[in-house]
Amino acid sequence: MSIVNETRALELIRQGEVVALPTETVYGLAGRIDSNDTLKKIFAVKQRPFFDPLIVHVHAVEQARALCREWPALWDVLARRFWPGPLTLISPKADSISSIITSGLETVAIRCPNHPVALKILREFGTPLAAPSANRFGRVSPTSAQHVEAEFNGEVAVVDGGPCLVGVESTVLATEYTDGVWRVKILRPGGVSRVHLRKALEEEGLKFQLLREESVASPGHLKAHYQPTSPVVLLNGLSWNDTLQKQTESRLGRKLNGAVELHLPATAQEAARVLYEEFRRLSTDPNRIIYIVRKPAHSGEDWEAVWDRVERASTTTF
Ligand code: TXA
Ligand code: MG
Repeated sequence: MSIVNETRALELIRQGEVVALPTETVYGLAGRIDSNDTLKKIFAVKQRPFFDPLIVHVHAVEQARALCREWPALWDVLARRFWPGPLTLISPKADSISSIITSGLETVAIRCPNHPVALKILREFGTPLAAPSANRFGRVSPTSAQHVEAEFNGEVAVVDGGPCLVGVESTVLATEYTDGVWRVKILRPGGVSRVHLRKALEEEGLKFQLLREESVASPGHLKAHYQPTSPVVLLNGLSWNDTLQKQTESRLGRKLNGAVELHLPATAQEAARVLYEEFRRLSTDPNRIIYIVRKPAHSGEDWEAVWDRVERASTTTF
């Protein structure tokens, strides 16, 4: 049985083991940042390539500051508004941060998760923890302890903190201050939507530009990512039919066994919460298509993270 309590999780973490912990976004595979062996173990368990850097998790702003070479004024604002919560900040790293965490980059990703279990373990351990999502590389992130168990066949210890309420990963931000203007770059859309970021920055009276930047700066955010075992087809306005199945078969080069629809709930928040769970629930047959219809009502800035993940999960779009 791979479910462990918080006390055991802390013991294992102290010993340099990796332990899956709940956060509000998705479960993370946590390990201490001062042991290169532990960090390597995180990559090994996930089968993650070393070019994809890890996020460091903290329980308080002071802990985050100590990891950074610079702490721009804007970050006090962002931390006050959104931490603990699904926002990750990219900062020039302190010398003490292992280059295994950052994949050799000069920057480090930091976030303070909003989950009582994660916060308690971080507080009691006393040092930040590295934690990527607790899934094998390229696969769907886990939003429950049972998903983690299934992902690693029960071989990874996991603390059961219930289902994740946000359901998609954190928003990853990099910021830059030039000529009196904050350039706030979204490297990965996620749990904090553009709408909330803009509102907060406006309320603070800051001069800013909010940009989406798909760049090598977020190397883990590859095009084909978050993929369930069944093929996912995204329909932009079409209904499912036999011709589409034949076309999907010829694109994938194999015979497929029918299709099932993944219905997204009406609000972006609900859709984010259930998306990964639905991918897993419907992925019972690797030859059965999961299709998602992009409805006009499911649009707008608050849907950005959901469509980003659906697009990356999709093998084919019509
Ligand atoms: O919600 C989340 O962020 C979850 C939970 C567990 O906290 N974690 C998560 O970690 O999604 P992971 O490792 O699956 O995704 C981290 C993302 C990757 O896309 C990675 O490329 C990016 O953050 N990242 C990490 N360090 C970076 C850096 N220094 N510069 C740019 N992107 C970075
Ligand atoms: Mg991940």
